[in-house]
Amino acid sequence: MTIQNIGVVGCGLMGSGIAQVAVQSGYDVIVAEAAQEFLDRGLQRIEASWSTMLAKGKLSEAEVAASRARLHTTLNLADFADRDIVVEAIIENKEEKIKLFRTLDTILPANALLVSNTSSLPITELAAVTRRPSQVAGLHFFNPVPVMKLVEIVRALETSDATVATLKDLAASLDKTAIVAKDTAGFVVNFLLIPYLLSAIRMYEQGTATKEDIDAAMRLGTGYPMGPFTLLDYVGLDTTLYAAEAIYDENRDPMYQPPVLLRRMVTAGLLGRKSGRGFYDYAK
Ligand code: 3HC
Repeated sequence: MTIQNIGVVGCGLMGSGIAQVAVQSGYDVIVAEAAQEFLDRGLQRIEASWSTMLAKGKLSEAEVAASRARLHTTLNLADFADRDIVVEAIIENKEEKIKLFRTLDTILPANALLVSNTSSLPITELAAVTRRPSQVAGLHFFNPVPVMKLVEIVRALETSDATVATLKDLAASLDKTAIVAKDTAGFVVNFLLIPYLLSAIRMYEQGTATKEDIDAAMRLGTGYPMGPFTLLDYVGLDTTLYAAEAIYDENRDPMYQPPVLLRRMVTAGLLGRKSGRGFYDYAK
């Protein structure tokens, strides 16, 4: 199957990035949200990214105008009736995702693919509520989507070879490198990344070093582009907590048990850059 048009549900950090990359790659995209204000915020994020890319000569005015013309928005999922594939990028809540997959399954054409950008929830559970489990998979992008080159394709129990092949072609057309992972919580990247981030929080709780020094240690000692606390703030503390909980729920390995400080910070609304404060202050 060849993908010609794409639907994205959710215009947050990830959904807006996925929509942006897809229109830049020539696809007609409809992005859906629950309320206009969420669409407006996502579109602002895309425009800001295009301004940066224009200023750096990575895109021309004509390319931005053509991309903008391919990007459509909706508050009504019924508009997805002609989509070849829909990428779900809503909040990391299993019940919400299951409800959405059930609905999308009734709207999409019979041959359309239905994929989730979830970072760690089981794809097989989403596939199981549809009548098209062989056409359901994970398609996990990384933040910032316009920059990060990786996509994880997650093969659920019943995902067909044809679906995986179509997703590999799609990833290549988006200028991403795809890897294929089994449907186990965290897939490849978060299975490795989450214990690292949680260990940094535990180290900070124990007073081993300041957060600034832990960040500097990993940047300068190992060449990571961001230290763990800068990355936690960048990814979002809530997103990190959901991912950790999902993996811990599945394997009960203490490495994935969220530290108390992470829980408290999320409860207090200290979510990182997106809320203005996390481990660091972004108010300025
Ligand atoms: N749109 C377009 N371009 C962007 C951009 C955006 N949203 N964000 C950054 N860029 C560009 C910049 O313009 C710059 O371009 P240049 O090289 O031509 O100058 C380039 O990316 C580098 O950006 P900066 O100079 O502003 O800053 P950095 O050099 O620190 O790079 C970064 C920023 C790319 C975010 C880098 O710090 C990085 O790679 N950090 C780690 C990010 C990471 O690990 N992401 C994965 C998180 S895990 C995840 O997402 C999974 C989830 O499930 C939890």
